Amino acid sequence: MTGQPPIAHEAFKQFERDKFSLVAQGYDQAIAQVTSQVDQAILDAVEAGYGKQLLDVACGTGWLSAAAMSRQAIVTGLDYAEKMVVIARLRCPEAEFQIGDAENLPFESGRFDAIVCSLGILHFADPERAIAQSFRVLKPGGRYAFTCWTPPARNPFMPLILGSVQTYGNMEVYLPPRPPLFRFGETAECKKVLSSAGFTSVSITELPMKWTFSTPQDVMPRIVISTARLGSILAMQTEEQRHNVENAIIEGAKKYVMDGSLEIPASILLTVGHKP
Ligand SMILES: C[S@@+](CC[C@H](N)C(=O)[O-])C[C@H]1O[C@@H](n2cnc3c(N)ncnc32)[C@H](O)[C@@H]1O
Repeated sequence: MTGQPPIAHEAFKQFERDKFSLVAQGYDQAIAQVTSQVDQAILDAVEAGYGKQLLDVACGTGWLSAAAMSRQAIVTGLDYAEKMVVIARLRCPEAEFQIGDAENLPFESGRFDAIVCSLGILHFADPERAIAQSFRVLKPGGRYAFTCWTPPARNPFMPLILGSVQTYGNMEVYLPPRPPLFRFGETAECKKVLSSAGFTSVSITELPMKWTFSTPQDVMPRIVISTARLGSILAMQTEEQRHNVENAIIEGAKKYVMDGSLEIPASILLTVGHKP
């Protein structure tokens, strides 16, 4: 993509794997409760139900897998970060979980009736390859769904956090360059990529979510313990920068306090395709 530094695939993948393992417990406590707000919509989109073979790619700590198990699907989850998989296994002992790479799925072709990938696609070094792999292991007639955050203009939580770091901190700390964060939050791009991979009847829906906090002061600590990249960027700021960023987040969050609780709106794009 123009203006983006080239992605060093292996360095980026190793960073993602190591950092997500490191924050797995925090992610489970602080973020999975947000991402799981759309789990039923994702499972509806792939018609997950009794006896269906479902693969949860980048399953994280297993909330979506658990929701699919409640629908009596036969669930396999896969994630690159070992600690994520450890927690997923505890959450969901009846499902089968594997440590593995979305870009090299260790399954035979045509094995699954449905494949879901919730907020994983934006973390893959080569998303086209990951999509092609899901296409391969999906049965003809099967459905594939992924989600991604919508861009900041439609997603108030993102500018609050990213904007505060951009304005009061330093985003240029050295980390392996990543693919564009909001690429799959754009309808046209999602349609193009899924159609090129061979999927048909591609449909896209924007779904609202909300981040709930007790107080504005809780926002930044929660981000620090639970995110791979943003937490690393915040950890690499000077004390003064961190202080200023935190103050900006607190001030920005105050306008979302209502009746003693703090709810910041966000949204994701759900993209679904059929394998002919
Ligand atoms: C934001 S989390 C989403 C977790 C979960 N699906 C959810 O919605 O809460 C992204 C996940 O992608 C995983 N991941 C990143 N790159 C991966 C890859 N190449 N293959 C498999 N999983 C990967 C990370 O380890 C992490 O668990």
